[in-house]
Amino acid sequence: RNYRSIAIDGPSGAGKSTLARLAAQALGFLYVDTGAIYRSVGLIALRAGLSPGDGDAVAALLPGIHLELCHGKDGLQRMYVNGEDVTGELRRPEVSSYASGVSAIPGVRAFLLDMQRDIAQKNDVVMDGRDIGTVVLPRADVKVFLSASPEERAARRFEELKARGDGSSYGEVLAQIELRDKNDSSRQVAPLKAAEDAVFLDTTGLPLEESLARLLRIIRGKL
Ligand code: C5P
Repeated sequence: RNYRSIAIDGPSGAGKSTLARLAAQALGFLYVDTGAIYRSVGLIALRAGLSPGDGDAVAALLPGIHLELCHGKDGLQRMYVNGEDVTGELRRPEVSSYASGVSAIPGVRAFLLDMQRDIAQKNDVVMDGRDIGTVVLPRADVKVFLSASPEERAARRFEELKARGDGSSYGEVLAQIELRDKNDSSRQVAPLKAAEDAVFLDTTGLPLEESLARLLRIIRGKL
C-alpha cells in the first residue's frame, strides 16, 4: 500500500511539534519529530565534550551510535541512544544549541536521512522539521510551512522552559531563537526554506485550537 505523508517545516518555536502531534492524532497518523533526532546527536556531541562545529569529530562518533524512535499510545515520541532513553534531556537549551550546530554537518544530515525516509515508507506520517518538504520527503502529499513572529515564538519557548524549571530569561530565549533561525536558514546543506509547493500558516496571535483547526483544514483539503 502507499503510505501518506504530511511534511511540516518551519523555524524553532512556531508550534510545529505540538501542532504536528495533535494533527497526527486527529488523522490517526504517526507523529515524527525530526528535531528530537538532531537533538539526540547534539546531546551525544555535548557529552563527548566536542565542539558542535567540529564536523570531523562529530562525524567520527556516528558509526557508534544506534538511534531509535519509540511511540507511546499517547502519540508522544521517545528517543533512545544505544538503548538509553534520552528524551528528558533533549529540550535543554544547551542541547538546542548543539542540535543546531551539528545539524549543519553534511555527514550528520546524510546519516539521518535514510532513517527519516524509512519511517515514512512504513507508516502514514506527520513529520516535522526544517527540510522535510524540501529534502526528506519531496513527494509528501501535503507540505505546510508553519511560522510565527520571533517574539511570539520566544514567548512560547520561554513559558515552556519556565514550566520545566529552567531559569533562562525572555531576552536570552529570544536571542537564542534568533541565532538558531540564522544558523538554520544560512547553512549550506538543507537550509530551513519553504518548499515551492508548501502552504503557509502563520500562527502569530492564534490560540492553539485555531491553529490546529486551520492546519487540519489545509491537510484535509489536500489528502
Ligand atoms: O525542531 P527542533 O527545535 O527540536 O530542532 C532542533 C534543531 O535541529 C534545529 O535548530 C535545527 O538546527 C535542527 N533540525 C534540522 N532539520 C530538521 C529538524 C531539526 O536541521 N529536519
